[in-house]
Amino acid sequence: MCKEVLGLIASALWFILPAYSANATPVVLGGGRPIDGGRKFRDGRPIFGPGKTIRGFVAGLVAGPVVGALQGVWAGDVFTYTVIGFLLALGALTGDLLGSFIKRRLGISRGGAAPGLDQLGFITLALLFASSLRLPSWEVVLTIFILTPPIHLATNFVGYKLGFKSRPY
Ligand code: CTP
Ligand code: MG
Repeated sequence: MCKEVLGLIASALWFILPAYSANATPVVLGGGRPIDGGRKFRDGRPIFGPGKTIRGFVAGLVAGPVVGALQGVWAGDVFTYTVIGFLLALGALTGDLLGSFIKRRLGISRGGAAPGLDQLGFITLALLFASSLRLPSWEVVLTIFILTPPIHLATNFVGYKLGFKSRPY
């Protein structure tokens, strides 16, 4: 039983690793021009806000397939893993953008917390994008959804302590 749970956790983390990488790299490498160019939506609020930058998006989009390629070297199929890494990264970054779009529409300003959306939005679209090529078993998907919020909160706290983030969540 215990062995099965550990196996499930390992499969979940292994599969979703490129999405986590794509979500984390912008925190370190992001900055500069925002994707929305500072433009406002028709409600007068920012489209995505200044926390979503072109450099961050591109950095995440590179990080995902790089991590995927490394997994592929290990697993013996560089091509497939690189493509899945790219799809997971594109999905994660799109989900992150969509999350910010929704937060701005709800009047939550940049960096404000949206519990649930902040932790699970990027993972949902990452899985959706990757599912065109590969979708893990429902048990693995469920494990990803259970593990991601605590991992996301823990890594954000570390990022805050290291000075990469202005807020601990
Ligand atoms: N970041 C970036 N480009 C992206 C995504 C993130 O540069 N496409 C950087 C920004 O510096 C951002 C940080 O990573 O502040 C943390 O990301 P996140 O928590 O997603 O953004 P928030 O600042 O909390 O903004 P929002 O409220 O829109 O989620
Ligand atoms: Mg945030």
